[in-house]
Amino acid sequence: MTLLQEIESALGDAFEKVVGERVTAPVVPSADLRFGDYQSNAAMALAKTQRTNPRALAQSVIDVIELGGLAETEIAGPGFINFRVAPAAFAKKAAEQLADERLGVPAVGDGRRVVVDFSAPNVAKPMHVGHIRSTILGDSLSRIAGFLGYEVIRDNHIGDWGTQFGMILHGWKTILDPAALESDPVAELLRVYREVNAKAKEDATVLAECKDELVELQSGDAANLEIWKRCVELSKEGLQKIYDRLDVSFDHWLGESFYNDRLPGLVEDFLGRGLAREDDGAVCIFSGGNLPDDQDPFRIHKEDGWTDNPAIIRKADGGFLYATTDLATIDYRIEEWQADEIWYVVGAPQQLHFRQIFDAARRWGKEAGFHHIMFGSILGEDRKLMKTRSGDNVQLVDVLDEAIERAAKAIAEKNPELGEEEAREVSEIVGIGAVKFAELSQHRMTDYVFSWDRMLALQGDTAPYLQYSYVRIRSIFRKLDAAFDAESVELVLEAPEEVHLARLALRYGEILPTVLEDHRPNLLATYLLELARAFHSFFEACPVLRADRSDIRDSRLALCELASRVLSHGLGLLGVRCPERM
Ligand code: ARG
Repeated sequence: MTLLQEIESALGDAFEKVVGERVTAPVVPSADLRFGDYQSNAAMALAKTQRTNPRALAQSVIDVIELGGLAETEIAGPGFINFRVAPAAFAKKAAEQLADERLGVPAVGDGRRVVVDFSAPNVAKPMHVGHIRSTILGDSLSRIAGFLGYEVIRDNHIGDWGTQFGMILHGWKTILDPAALESDPVAELLRVYREVNAKAKEDATVLAECKDELVELQSGDAANLEIWKRCVELSKEGLQKIYDRLDVSFDHWLGESFYNDRLPGLVEDFLGRGLAREDDGAVCIFSGGNLPDDQDPFRIHKEDGWTDNPAIIRKADGGFLYATTDLATIDYRIEEWQADEIWYVVGAPQQLHFRQIFDAARRWGKEAGFHHIMFGSILGEDRKLMKTRSGDNVQLVDVLDEAIERAAKAIAEKNPELGEEEAREVSEIVGIGAVKFAELSQHRMTDYVFSWDRMLALQGDTAPYLQYSYVRIRSIFRKLDAAFDAESVELVLEAPEEVHLARLALRYGEILPTVLEDHRPNLLATYLLELARAFHSFFEACPVLRADRSDIRDSRLALCELASRVLSHGLGLLGVRCPERM
């Protein structure tokens, strides 16, 4: 049990003794340590229904509470109960945490099965910054959910059946450079797509030819299908290389095309059940009429009031759309995978799309915990959407290359003794870690400014700062002549900095589950920064290897060990690795 859980359970027992029944008496971490470590306002809430004085009720509760020396209590203000955890209790719990391979983190997921839909770039189009955010956030959320006891299925729902294939097919047949395709397929496909796209904008015949290619592909033309397959394969290979560098993996890659066969039947089913109807030749889903207008994704407010805002699932020409595929995907994930929850890590501009398909799926009888985990944009230093100098979308590969290059420079300056190979490896870990942490330490809804200097700074709210903290701790252990067994040490916490470091390490088990309440890895990132700062204050105030007593030295070493384990574990859940030296 975490400290919070232990205190909550003792408080629950005490209330039961006083009022004669089990009541809810929640305990929360105090926002300010001057009021102790934890706090409960249960006496105030309960006094209202019991018509008693809240301070008097709080007093009777703390008169009977059995905390076994865990914490001191005090009543504050109108009836808050504050708990100040005793240093000996921190010491005991920290020792337990050291011995626990879960580092004191309870498993809250209960084996619930969650499909995480993230990354999902579009084939033959470049991966852009929106996909970067989705990839990093989705990977971290998957890691955290897995560790917290969910059964996680990572699915990369790539866009492998879009209208872009009209252009690609046309370009493949007219301007493809086979040698370039051989050496860098993703770049060549992108060039082809861009050139044809530009031509089609100027020349209506080219546009018409592209449309014909697409129609042929969709109606099963063997030659076009062959080219399409090849494009998808090449793109996947290219993507896989990026995911490898990012240390991101998927259990499935069921892209849009996987659902093609299911779409005609799905539309018929929606029609048959009266969930969709024809409108101007197209098949549309309209409001279910069960929600007030301002909450109904199928209603929209225009100048003259509320009006319909349908989702098309089959166009008049027979084509299917993004919404059709996503409904088929929900069906598959629920029926085939028994998904309890589905998390979509996709940018905020798709909010309406997801509200519509969640509502339509529920009316269709497909129920799961649907969450659209959205995020804002990445801005350049000019605070406008991040673009390259030529105005193109910034590409993930280029971002990674530059991050690593910059990290390499910084490392060469800081630690010229590292051998070439180690320096290269450390630069990868630091550069990629910096990009990921810059993303994950932001509230996902903020539009954050992408700044190389800021994300790579050794002093700042950055991955390199955390990695350096870890490296600093490990270097202490390298100075020992013998192996150190932290788990057999008795902890003595005397200095306030020692107490505070233990307090923060123990918070790990309380913070981590809160990350999933609103799918916000930044809560973990912020916590890790706080932990690192607590370590540095401790290290400044308390000599470790030169402590004057050996029991204190060992206790401090054990605290160092604990801090480094929590740091690297927490960073691991953000997908950020730690080097041993840097
Ligand atoms: N390929 C889409 C895009 O790039 C994202 C897909 C997200 N997942 C989904 N099930 N719709 O915008």
